[in-house]
Amino acid sequence: MKKQLFALLLALLPAAAIAAEGELPYSMEPDLHDQASLQNGMKLYVNYCMGCHSMEHQRFSRAATDLDMPQGLVEDNLIFSPELAFNDQMHIAMQPDDAENWLGAPPPDLTLEARLRGSDWIYSYLQSFYKDPSSQTGVNNAVFDQVAMPNVLEPLQGVQEKVCATTDKPIEGQEPDSLSGKYQSCDVLRVTEEGSMNPDEFQDAVYDLTNFLAYAGEPSRLKAQALAPKVLIFIVFLGIICYFLKREYWRDIH
Ligand code: HEC
Repeated sequence: MKKQLFALLLALLPAAAIAAEGELPYSMEPDLHDQASLQNGMKLYVNYCMGCHSMEHQRFSRAATDLDMPQGLVEDNLIFSPELAFNDQMHIAMQPDDAENWLGAPPPDLTLEARLRGSDWIYSYLQSFYKDPSSQTGVNNAVFDQVAMPNVLEPLQGVQEKVCATTDKPIEGQEPDSLSGKYQSCDVLRVTEEGSMNPDEFQDAVYDLTNFLAYAGEPSRLKAQALAPKVLIFIVFLGIICYFLKREYWRDIH
């Protein structure tokens, strides 16, 4: 009985975790085979995130090998600090204490962020900053309320604001409009001042960035996936050999 209860608890756990998180506005499926996306994600990461967030468990050289980038290219374009070498981990110069003083909260290391929060969460978070004059950074975030991180992607995305508009997303306690089937909400995020990218380009950029974080959380997965067909072929081969061996052994007995 105890065992069954335990199994039931285990089965319910993920559901409980998802329910607690609330609904996310966007979702994405990482594609670890899309080298162009991962390379662009790494470029965005070192340009826009590495000022504050380290990636302690990831080396430049490892990423270069996995993402098929020549050493020279990485050294010339992706390593900005003279103190960092090709074989180093992706450290940052900022000290956690200073970061906390300057920003109000320490920016966490992001190597395992995709495993901690999930890629849907990161993908949603990076698209959900909106203008909020009452906050110290001038922005708030619909996925992470009162976040201490400034909207570092604003030059790309533009200024996003909360506006009143109709939406397809059901609003609790509200009947949909009988004609359009839509709901009325004053929590709709809309770009009100354009950045250097249009909304589709920005979403693609955030996809690549999230994809890179998903890769960083599980760099061995690329290798494991490449190895899987070989392992399967080996097992099939071994199976055939065992079958003939069994026939050979049993022949005399029959
Ligand atoms: C100016 C410094 C700064 C930069 C640059 C920056 N961040 Fe942050 N980030 C922070 C701070 C500070 C926090 C902690 C926020 C809090 O706890 O309120 C944070 C939090 C986060 C979190 C949530 C961590 C968690 O699980 O609680 C993610 C994800 C994140 N940042 C991703 C990024 C990405 C991706 C970039 C690059 C596009 C980036 N950040 C650039 C300062 C920064």
